[in-house]
Amino acid sequence: MTIDGEEDVVGLRLAGAAVADARDNAIAAVEPGISTAELDSIAGTVLSQHGAVSAPKLAYDFPGHTCISVNDAAAHGIPSREVILRDGDLVNIDVSAELNGYWADTGASTAVGEASPTIARLLEATKLAQADAMAAARAGRPIRLIGRAVQKRADAYGFSVLANLNGHGVGRFIHETPDIPSIEIRRNRERLVEGMVIAVEPFLSISGTYAIESEDRWTLRTNDASLVAQFEHTMIVTNHEPIVLTLPVSSAPELTKT
Ligand code: CO
Ligand code: CO
Repeated sequence: MTIDGEEDVVGLRLAGAAVADARDNAIAAVEPGISTAELDSIAGTVLSQHGAVSAPKLAYDFPGHTCISVNDAAAHGIPSREVILRDGDLVNIDVSAELNGYWADTGASTAVGEASPTIARLLEATKLAQADAMAAARAGRPIRLIGRAVQKRADAYGFSVLANLNGHGVGRFIHETPDIPSIEIRRNRERLVEGMVIAVEPFLSISGTYAIESEDRWTLRTNDASLVAQFEHTMIVTNHEPIVLTLPVSSAPELTKT
């Protein structure tokens, strides 16, 4: 969507705060021995406290409040009591939800227990790539510059980018136009517009270059079974830096007027 006034900004901020709060509570609970179903339940409880409804459930009838993807799973992992996190794993929790007609989307990866040097580097590179992508998101600029920024950061670390998992427009639904590729597609002539609401979510991998669907018909795994990380934020494009709607709730701007 493209925002049309302050009412949209307030609505989007509330939806953004709901998914950010759920994300951070679930990430904080990550430890060896916990199941992905338990993490999903924590996130689901936080969403309902905000009055928000899980987007994957609402839009796609997904079997979970959130998508929780472990190690070589990039996205759309199904929360399960049978998936127990172990020391040395890498886990991604992706939270998206609808609140009062506004939709927001966020995700974060973290190490389980002690991060190996490889996982620590992959997390660092992916977080920086996401920040670079946000910095490239400015009204009037070509969308392909976002992908260029992500690729540059991945290259500097010797990691690869999953080419077929895109960011996207968001706001009035979970997946809207335009696509926001995390690689530079030179023929893409689309430009960002002031007030456009987008979710930017690069997936960096040790060596994988695209994601493939698993037997469960949901989970997307790297093509070469190597580890993958993702960070995602929802933002409003402006003529300057974007307004990020899914920052940690403690650091988000105060909503209530006193
Ligand atoms: Co997401
Ligand atoms: Co998304």
